[in-house]
Amino acid sequence: MNQGTALPWKLEDIDFSLFDATKALADDDLICLICASSFIESGSDLYTRNLVKHYAGDPAVQDWLGQQWEQEELQHGRALASYVRHAWPGFDWDRAFAGFFDEYRRVCTSENLEERRGLELAARCVVETGTASLYRAIHTQTEEPVLKQLTGHIKSDEVRHYSHFYKYFRVYEEREHNGRWRILGALYRRLKEIRNEDGDIALRHVFAWRHPELNADPVAFAQASSRIYQLIKRNLPAEMTVKMLLKPLDLPPRIHAGVQYPLTRLTERLVLH
Ligand SMILES: [Fe+2]
Ligand SMILES: [Fe+2]
Repeated sequence: MNQGTALPWKLEDIDFSLFDATKALADDDLICLICASSFIESGSDLYTRNLVKHYAGDPAVQDWLGQQWEQEELQHGRALASYVRHAWPGFDWDRAFAGFFDEYRRVCTSENLEERRGLELAARCVVETGTASLYRAIHTQTEEPVLKQLTGHIKSDEVRHYSHFYKYFRVYEEREHNGRWRILGALYRRLKEIRNEDGDIALRHVFAWRHPELNADPVAFAQASSRIYQLIKRNLPAEMTVKMLLKPLDLPPRIHAGVQYPLTRLTERLVLH
């Protein structure tokens, strides 16, 4: 960990003696979802490297990315992995993660970044909206005390990440003048990607260990993934999600109110179909 990084909470402060195995095991889909999330969070250093390169010559953004954001995301990965080890004794998390990472690093390249730096910051707002909504949904869904505590911390971190990316986005927008249509395009592209790549790769690797029969059967795999996305959808804080997604567009209040409902439905369809 970089020196001088002050994490808002520490994994060591989580009291795992409160872990309730009966409550955890009552929801197999949730265990798979947490495991998939632990993989993606633990691959954050790869994203950070690409992003830090993208913001060459901007030490404010680069320092925040490397010293704060990356450290917090990696802690999310460690915390969720610790939880998975409690809920799934005997699971070789390290080996499963190595398999996931080998595939993930090939799709997680700088080519996926928006060329204009301001637009990439708007796209990062979409990703942080997704994670803030995901962990809030899990926080609502779970009755397991350790997971409730963990996701409480993580969702607050994700909202704070959003506000940092949004702040930097405003600075770049002043210089780049991308305008609403270009920003909308960047938001839409990233929204589509969230559902298509990272989540599916991670779930496929989780299923390979927990339900290997699913990976040999594309229909069963699609059904199991869809059940997991439904789990998120049931608890999705839709109003918060759409408000965060729309913010970079800076719409006049009347238009904002008009597009909120259709955009909520579109978000659900894109991310959670
Ligand atoms: Fe995270
Ligand atoms: Fe985040």
